[in-house]
Amino acid sequence: MVKRGANIFVCQNCGTSYPKWQGKCDSCGEWNTIVEEVSKTEGFSKLNSSSVAKKIDFVPLKGDMETYSRLKTGIKEIDRVSGGGLVPGSVILVGGDPGIGKSTLLLQVCAGLANMQEHYPCYYISGEEAIDQVRIRASRLGLSDSPVNLASATNVNNIIATLENSDAAVVIIDSIQTMYLDTVESTPGSVGQVRACAYELIKLAKRKGFVLFLVGHVTKQGEIAGPRVLEHMVDTVLYFEGERGHHFRILRAVKNRYGATDEIGVFEMQDKGLVEVENPSALFLAERQGNVSGSCVFAGVEGSRPLLVEIQALVSQSGYSTPKRAVVGWDSNRLSMILAVLESRCGMNFSTHDVYLNIAGGLKISEPAADLAVAMAVISSLTNKPLPADMAVFGEIGLSGEIRMVAQPNLRLKEAQKLGFSSAIIPPVFGKDKKEKGAKNYELTCYEIGNVQRLINWFN
Ligand code: TYD
Ligand code: MG
Repeated sequence: MVKRGANIFVCQNCGTSYPKWQGKCDSCGEWNTIVEEVSKTEGFSKLNSSSVAKKIDFVPLKGDMETYSRLKTGIKEIDRVSGGGLVPGSVILVGGDPGIGKSTLLLQVCAGLANMQEHYPCYYISGEEAIDQVRIRASRLGLSDSPVNLASATNVNNIIATLENSDAAVVIIDSIQTMYLDTVESTPGSVGQVRACAYELIKLAKRKGFVLFLVGHVTKQGEIAGPRVLEHMVDTVLYFEGERGHHFRILRAVKNRYGATDEIGVFEMQDKGLVEVENPSALFLAERQGNVSGSCVFAGVEGSRPLLVEIQALVSQSGYSTPKRAVVGWDSNRLSMILAVLESRCGMNFSTHDVYLNIAGGLKISEPAADLAVAMAVISSLTNKPLPADMAVFGEIGLSGEIRMVAQPNLRLKEAQKLGFSSAIIPPVFGKDKKEKGAKNYELTCYEIGNVQRLINWFN
């Protein structure tokens, strides 16, 4: 008889386990997500079986280190997001909505690496699509002649046995939710399977020193499906974002053990696949119309890269007793805060107005540095007075109405100048200690504003 571990009950949303079934998960608050799983994974049980404790060795911080040379993919945006190329033995989790372009991107990466003069041996394993479907995509992308090893498989034991004796430099698993281990008695995609499959594949990647890409589905909330623990197990987590209706896509590093986080790569989805965007600011501002109220250009920074985007606001008379606030691409709590600051510090009244806010182009911004640009767009729409089309704005707003300095002002101003902007509204950066802060001489005129009350002057 097969000896089994104790049954456990695992929340499929957050991965918390319970000794008995219950209707609601105490950890994440979701209902009906707890499922019985029989745990019998080899990998985990082995850990507990060693009974003889050994002494561990401590070493100084300084010492001989393994130096690794990064694999360049030939796709600049990927190299940038990964921190300068792929590190051998590292594991990269790529998450994103269905149909956003994960398989397309990874097939392009795979073909790019296989076509390099080093001829990296690349293995693309699809658990979602049949060989023919991947081939159709490859021919559409014009990559059919690339020396990529393609397989359609879902059994992790078979995959590991095959890769064990291969020369793989890069392996792509599309997707981890379709993989299964027959030693784990739960369905593919369940928390137990995802965790066990990832664990075994990661162990192999580390031992053999190949780069492992895992594609992960995202849940309705936008998190990678399965346990959060998957994100802890891997070295790098990349999210592929974008609005369905828009043609550009952002690849964002949210965790990276081998590089900076919050770095982004910008791509455009064309009929021949994903194309790198060299100058994203120009792209995001391309469809802007001059001389309309409610539009303001925000000079932002994503990772190490400056990015100019248009922020659009529409303030209209409300027909409801509770006015509507709708935000796309930004934090709605942050908008409420800015409206409250404008109401209490500048005497404006939004209680009878609906406020809509949109970041043009489908980009998602999380920087508080956009506060000032949002406030300007809102006031511009309320007063129906357009801002100068060649003016860029950045700055954080505090609760007392003060405008605060943000990181990397020089980078932001340089980008605005490069794109032909002639003026900028900025926090009081350089005012007091011009020399120490190293203010550069810009051709654009910088208006330093310290308080939201002074903003109103712009609209009189
Ligand atoms: P896909 O890579 O299959 O998405 P995911 O793996 O994230 O689910 O991308 C599918 C979408 O991309 C599909 O809607 C069609 C579009 N697409 C193009 O616009 N151009 C192309 O060259 C390719 C291959 C796909
Ligand atoms: Mg896919």
